[in-house]
Amino acid sequence: MSIAELGERFNIVRLSREIVRNAFARDVDQGLSTNPKYLPCIYFYDEKGSLLFEDICKLPEYYLTRAESEILKDRSDEIASFFPEQPAIVELGSGSSIKTRYLLEAFLRRHGQACYTPIDISHEILRESSFDLLNTYPGLEITAVAATYEEGLKQIGRLNGQQKLVLWLGSSIGNFVPDEAELFMRHLRDTLQPSDSLLIGIDLQKEKTILERAYDDSRGITAAFNLNLLGRINRELEADFDLKKFEHLAFYNEQKKRVEIYIRSKIRQVVHIGQLDVTVTFDAGEKIHTEFSHKYSLEDIGKLARKTGFIHKEQWFDSKNWFSLNLFVAE
Ligand code: AVJ
Repeated sequence: MSIAELGERFNIVRLSREIVRNAFARDVDQGLSTNPKYLPCIYFYDEKGSLLFEDICKLPEYYLTRAESEILKDRSDEIASFFPEQPAIVELGSGSSIKTRYLLEAFLRRHGQACYTPIDISHEILRESSFDLLNTYPGLEITAVAATYEEGLKQIGRLNGQQKLVLWLGSSIGNFVPDEAELFMRHLRDTLQPSDSLLIGIDLQKEKTILERAYDDSRGITAAFNLNLLGRINRELEADFDLKKFEHLAFYNEQKKRVEIYIRSKIRQVVHIGQLDVTVTFDAGEKIHTEFSHKYSLEDIGKLARKTGFIHKEQWFDSKNWFSLNLFVAE
């Protein structure tokens, strides 16, 4: 099918290149001039990073994607049966939309057509996956939004009047510390109306060794994904990071119930960032914090729903009980 033919079923909304680039420059400048150093994990997902993340999802050690896919494969018809009428389907952080296919197929079987609004920070991945979906499913219409969650929520607000099903898969909520998670969930709830739904994938607490392997795989893909942040700063902000002089660090903090991810400088060194006209000094062993991945208990999930204006309607698990998929309904 040509792009022109797909055109009637496809729309893309995106922030200007300028806005995205300025935000990146500002956040890098801020994050590397504070102590301890910090880079926001949303910047992992340039085109290269998004592709590396897809490789992570296929790793034997990274159980999350497989577990969630198993649930979606087995339960999508049951999930769709909660919706007598076709809801507008919105997805936060849609990426390749591969897992989402099970759900889209279940809705298309029931209703013949569906409107899907994938929201993702990487516009390249968004375009590509949208075209793949449109080619596969003639009953599908897509309005893609290349933006952050915050911008994405505004788009969700524009869908008022239709019943909505928001998908937030992959345990991306884990990136937020508990207070931020609650705040964002409230904000999301405020953009919804009573009886709108949120289908949210949340990874569960488990043995330290399993978690640490999932975030530090033997093939070094997660390390490359993490260090790509420095590569991106080199490419977009004319910096001279030597990636070989940094290393990936991931460990489970059992007290805080989260995997903590850092980039660690192997030696004392100085890096110049051309576009910012700044010089950054690293001590030997100094870390840049890049990501948290919080792991939840069943109790945490119930509380989260209650505290943020949702009813915890249903919960599904994979065969190992390692991952949960939760249907929250707005009160
Ligand atoms: C996309 C945020 C869910 O925390 O498991 C994977 C990202 N980072 N390996 C996660 C990630 C390192 C992932 N999320």
